[in-house]
Amino acid sequence: MALHLGAQYILEHNVGISDAVLLDPLTEEAFIENLKKRFSHEQIYTYIGTVVVSVNPYQKLPLYTAEVIEEYRSRNIYELPPHIYAISDEAYRSMRDRNLDQCIIISGESGAGKTEASKVIMQYVAQVSGKGREIDRVKEQLLQSNPVLEAFGNAKTLRNDNSSRFGKYMDIEFDFKGDPIGGVITNYLLEKSRVASQIPGERNFHIFYQLLAGADPTFLETLKLSPKPESYGFLNKSGCITVDTIDDAREFNLVKTGMEVIGFYRAEINEVFQLVASVLKLGNVEFSHRSNSDGTDGCDIASTQELEDVAKILGCMEQNLKSALTQRTVEVKREKVKTDFSVAGAVYARDALCKAIYSRLFSWLVQRINDSIKVKTEQTKKVMGVLDIYGFEVFETNRYEQFIINYCNEKLQQIFIELTLKEEQEEYIREGIEWIHVQYFNNAVICDLIEKSGSSFSQNNNVGILAILDEQCLLPGNVTDKTFLEKMNTTCKDHPHYESRALRKNQSDRSLPHDAFRLKHYAGNVTYKVDGFIDKNNDLLYRDLSQAMYACKHNLMKKLFPEGNPTQKSLKRPPTAGSQFKASVQELMKNLLSKNPNYIRCIKPNDEKQSGKLDLDIVKHQVRYLGLMENIRVKRAGYAYRQVYDQFLYRYKMLADETWPSWHGDAKEGVKKILANQKIADDEIAFGKSKLFIRNPRTLFDLEETRRERMHFLATLIQKVWKGHVKREHFLLMKRSQVIISSRFRGFYGQKQYKRKKAAALLLQCCTRRWKARKLLAELKHQKRMEWAAGVIHKYYLGWKVRMNYKPKFRRIAGPKVARFMVVALRRKFLLNVRDKLPSLSPIDNKWPSSLNMYKSASDQLQVMHHRWRCRKYRRKLNESQKYTLREKATASDIFKDKKVIYPESVPHPFKGDYLNLRGDMKWKKIHSVTHDINLVFADLVHKVNRANGKIVQQLLVISSQALLVIDHHTMTLKYRIPIEYIEKISLSPFQDKLAVFHMKKPENGDKFAKKGDFIIGNEHIIEIVTKSSLCLKNKTSKMPEITISPQCSSQFGNSSVQVSFQQGAKGLEPGIPGVKVTRKKHLMLISEP
Ligand SMILES: Nc1ncnc2c1ncn2[C@@H]1O[C@H](COP(=O)(O)OP(=O)(O)OP(=O)(O)O)[C@@H](O)[C@H]1O
Ligand SMILES: [Mg+2]
Repeated sequence: MALHLGAQYILEHNVGISDAVLLDPLTEEAFIENLKKRFSHEQIYTYIGTVVVSVNPYQKLPLYTAEVIEEYRSRNIYELPPHIYAISDEAYRSMRDRNLDQCIIISGESGAGKTEASKVIMQYVAQVSGKGREIDRVKEQLLQSNPVLEAFGNAKTLRNDNSSRFGKYMDIEFDFKGDPIGGVITNYLLEKSRVASQIPGERNFHIFYQLLAGADPTFLETLKLSPKPESYGFLNKSGCITVDTIDDAREFNLVKTGMEVIGFYRAEINEVFQLVASVLKLGNVEFSHRSNSDGTDGCDIASTQELEDVAKILGCMEQNLKSALTQRTVEVKREKVKTDFSVAGAVYARDALCKAIYSRLFSWLVQRINDSIKVKTEQTKKVMGVLDIYGFEVFETNRYEQFIINYCNEKLQQIFIELTLKEEQEEYIREGIEWIHVQYFNNAVICDLIEKSGSSFSQNNNVGILAILDEQCLLPGNVTDKTFLEKMNTTCKDHPHYESRALRKNQSDRSLPHDAFRLKHYAGNVTYKVDGFIDKNNDLLYRDLSQAMYACKHNLMKKLFPEGNPTQKSLKRPPTAGSQFKASVQELMKNLLSKNPNYIRCIKPNDEKQSGKLDLDIVKHQVRYLGLMENIRVKRAGYAYRQVYDQFLYRYKMLADETWPSWHGDAKEGVKKILANQKIADDEIAFGKSKLFIRNPRTLFDLEETRRERMHFLATLIQKVWKGHVKREHFLLMKRSQVIISSRFRGFYGQKQYKRKKAAALLLQCCTRRWKARKLLAELKHQKRMEWAAGVIHKYYLGWKVRMNYKPKFRRIAGPKVARFMVVALRRKFLLNVRDKLPSLSPIDNKWPSSLNMYKSASDQLQVMHHRWRCRKYRRKLNESQKYTLREKATASDIFKDKKVIYPESVPHPFKGDYLNLRGDMKWKKIHSVTHDINLVFADLVHKVNRANGKIVQQLLVISSQALLVIDHHTMTLKYRIPIEYIEKISLSPFQDKLAVFHMKKPENGDKFAKKGDFIIGNEHIIEIVTKSSLCLKNKTSKMPEITISPQCSSQFGNSSVQVSFQQGAKGLEPGIPGVKVTRKKHLMLISEP
């Protein structure tokens, strides 16, 4: 259904007439035809005024989504197509906004859709009410109570796959904001006979099948159950185990979840299923016949397995259970005697026990749910009740249960009649409104027939069936269902709604069996078989059984059978089932009458549970007995709305200037002013004695709409005035504040200005004083300066005068004196400075105190003197050998300093001389014993350059004070000896080679050594060799040889004269000794070095 809803939608898309009050012509056919037409377009709801007529669609329609709920939320009932949501919203808002407790009465026969309608209401309320953790919890618990109670209290019947086998009235309780805070569920008479037997095609309560299909195998094992429903006597007799529309396994899980959400403890859930299992198991206990010795019938348990299992589950002695099932204790003359049951008696006792366990378990469940959902706070609450009670039932065979159920339906019809037909019409008359009475059937007479209390033994015989039944139950002696029927036949024979075969008026009616009676209910005739009425009404359980149950260790079972407590001796008879039910129905009626009623009248379209099919006869029957036509007629002829003048005035007083904001005159007059102001037509309204009647709901809605607009306007006005007032107050406050602030600010500003001026004045004063002081100071300074200048001038003048006087003398004598004095003083200062800053005694310390330029030469001389002096001091400290070494070093310095590159590296090395320790060598001793060269000065291996080809060979060179000796170092044989005086000249290169050319004197008289000519030697200690040989020569000849240091020299090798040339830059030479490459080319010997 497309839900662009609203008035437009109704006009354009509505099928048929959505409010039957507007039907024209108003006939039963037209009404049903209208229902059918709407039904065929899936419009299952139709209004009669504010009553919703709902036709069961037997199919899922998209009418119950959250979006649809939002559409209906806070909308007027006629704004949108008829829906349960509309009436729910109306009831919810009346409850929340007008503080009127509400009840929604859902009626209709079995399968008409009452339970579904109640769920739709709860869904609506859950969505539109507030949100929050606690509220959501309560909502969830209220919603979850449905699947749990349906599992235990609903069953598949021929008329309905999910037929409620108990009556339910649920009060949802709200806080002042309209948020649900809890609830109370009342249950009415569970059809417990169903536990033990069902008619063909029907099932036991859903929970049995759900448990077997849905519980997991281990759980079933602990309950000692097999998953096959066929194996249980209580389930396999009716021939119906599964239902197409029901998924038992899925439902079981929903039930368990539901129980958990409601707050059942796990242990409690287990206990509940243990009891369900026990009922199934007990149902399988079979009995076998036994003849007792005293001739009476007895029985035994045919197979004890089931009994054993039950005993284990319930924690009781198997024997106790067995004896309670096969025997009963009777009191004979105050003595307790046990008598055996016959097989039939035992089966009866067993079934009674199972029914009792199940029905008490069901009541306990309701109680337990109530404990969870009850309101825990003390706050005042508003209530919305939803009544979903079993529908009117007519079966082929109707028994006690149907009688009770139909009695309840009669009572509900009563309420409907009372409130919608009777009360309304009576009110018009009471209020003096012109009224033509609408005829309707008042079923009060049938209610009386059933429930009227009193005694059948009284004179007028005017007693209800329930009272007769109770009376029969209490009678001592042999009371049977038959005697009960007879008693009814005598007591009710004249009642127009009672029929029995025994009565004369029905003697020829073969459709009425002899063991039955017929009641002409408002909904049709129902024939009740009296069989079982007494028993069921008594609802007694043998005490042995309740004691056996109480003796169980099973917690819950013990709770369910408190009368089994042996210490409780009270033998007071409990009230009969009938009287209990009557009392609870009366309580319910009182409850419903105290609330504002809303009606949903459910209609079943066909007996086949088929969608899209509307059987006219079946619907016509329901329309008739539900009194819908009368309902329409009263609504149409009457007025849709009434209200006492005071309340009407209070609600709508803002619609007229005269009555707003208050009216002090008569309320009725005030109301007239309002209506005149709204220009409402005269035929739309009627003025009663105390109430105003409005014919058309639309007029009321218009009034409401105008009121809403007016309220909006007034609210705006109040807001405007209030805001103006608030703003003005705020403005005045701001103004006062502003004055205070500005005065404070001015004060503060003035203070600040004053301080600034004061500071400025002080500054000015300061500046002036400083200026004056400065001026004075300048004057004083000037004066002082003048005085000083005068003094100076005076002094100069005196000086000048003195000089003038002494000038001739002064110049001659004082000048030279002063100059000498100055010279002496400066000289003294210079010398003192030299004395104080003399350098250390180390000869190499170069420091010397600085001096004026005029003393530079004196300072240098002093420095030299001082140096010499400290050198002498130093020398004096030396011994002879150190002196000789120093002499050698000094000579070397004279020869080589700044001339030969390798000289500086030789300075730190002491001239060791005998590098080979030759002095102690025997072979040497042998040599010098011959040559007399005892005084060895130097000995080391040297590289001797071959004069002919430049080759270098190693020889031992010994220098003695007399000669140079060249010795073969391998054989220690003297090669030649050159007397020292033969050395004429020694040549060296300035480079880093360590070679020296020894030039010999020109040979004389065939001197064999000199003939050989000059020779070139190289050694690590060449500086030492040259120095020592020079000193030896000097010692000998008192003359140093000529030493030249140059890259070239000319040399005499034998007879030929050779130019020896030193060259640097040769590559590939090894450093060290010899470190040179010597080549001889005729008259050129080239010595290359790196
Ligand atoms: N509004 C609906 N939309 C779809 N299906 C519905 C609706 N109302 C009822 N039904 C169908 O009809 C069946 C019977 O409805 P419900 O159980 O509400 O009947 P009831 O009046 O409560 O009967 P009983 O008196 O036996 O409890 C439901 O199981 C459902 O299949
Ligand atoms: Mg139901």
